[in-house]
Amino acid sequence: MITIKNKAAIAKMEEAGRFLSQIFSLAPAIVRPGMSTLDIDVWMEEKQREYGLTSKMKGYKGYKHVSCISVNDVVVHGIPSKMVILQQGDLIKVDVCVAWKEYCADMARAFFVGQGTEQQEKFVAVAYEALDAGIAQAYAGNHLSDISAAIQNKVEKAGFGVVRDFAGHGIGKRMHEEPEILNFGKPGKGPVLRAGMALALEPMITMGSHKIKIMSDGWTAKTADGSLAAHVEDTIVITDTEPKIITRIV
Ligand code: MF3
Ligand code: CO
Repeated sequence: MITIKNKAAIAKMEEAGRFLSQIFSLAPAIVRPGMSTLDIDVWMEEKQREYGLTSKMKGYKGYKHVSCISVNDVVVHGIPSKMVILQQGDLIKVDVCVAWKEYCADMARAFFVGQGTEQQEKFVAVAYEALDAGIAQAYAGNHLSDISAAIQNKVEKAGFGVVRDFAGHGIGKRMHEEPEILNFGKPGKGPVLRAGMALALEPMITMGSHKIKIMSDGWTAKTADGSLAAHVEDTIVITDTEPKIITRIV
């Protein structure tokens, strides 16, 4: 069942999203070559405490951190580690899910330590464009897979791959609720979108093959061919007019 959130629930989700996007707006400036991905997670945890947010990741299926930090060919679910030292030109994806008064916001951003090559920067731009193309379909009356198809279309037209093994999701009091939101598929399928549905859209894209492999830690998902991967995520609420992007209210 896809829950319809009432005004009070949406207000709490918006607050969660506002705080989370404020934290994210500060993140690129603190990231430096020589820093570990664990350093970023520790910073994230401190910021969440400052804002009074609860982590929805720490403790989830035994996960021990407040963020996933995925570097270069790691697509998603990179475990923060003091052994992973960032270098100039690395592409990092930071994924965080928090709650405010029990309601969640889920967000991920991809950015370079310094700068990427022109081709790499273009690749990351396509991830953001795909997310926006998905959001542009998130209207009451549309079908769920209109979002999926728009994301796939944007990515594949640009010549990149769409990861099949993970998906976006409904969100509310729980980080993962129904429905599952694939990043590929034909339009016009699945449930009809209604005002009050809250969705986390999260395209995961690769420069090469869309195939991935899971590392022996059971979390880290890497591209099978070692190609660069990008992942971005926003939490949105369907309304009677424009979708409300709660992780972009700064
Ligand atoms: N936030 C991720 C998502 O977008 C989930 C991360 S898994 C966790 O669905 F264990 F790290 F929380
Ligand atoms: Co998510």
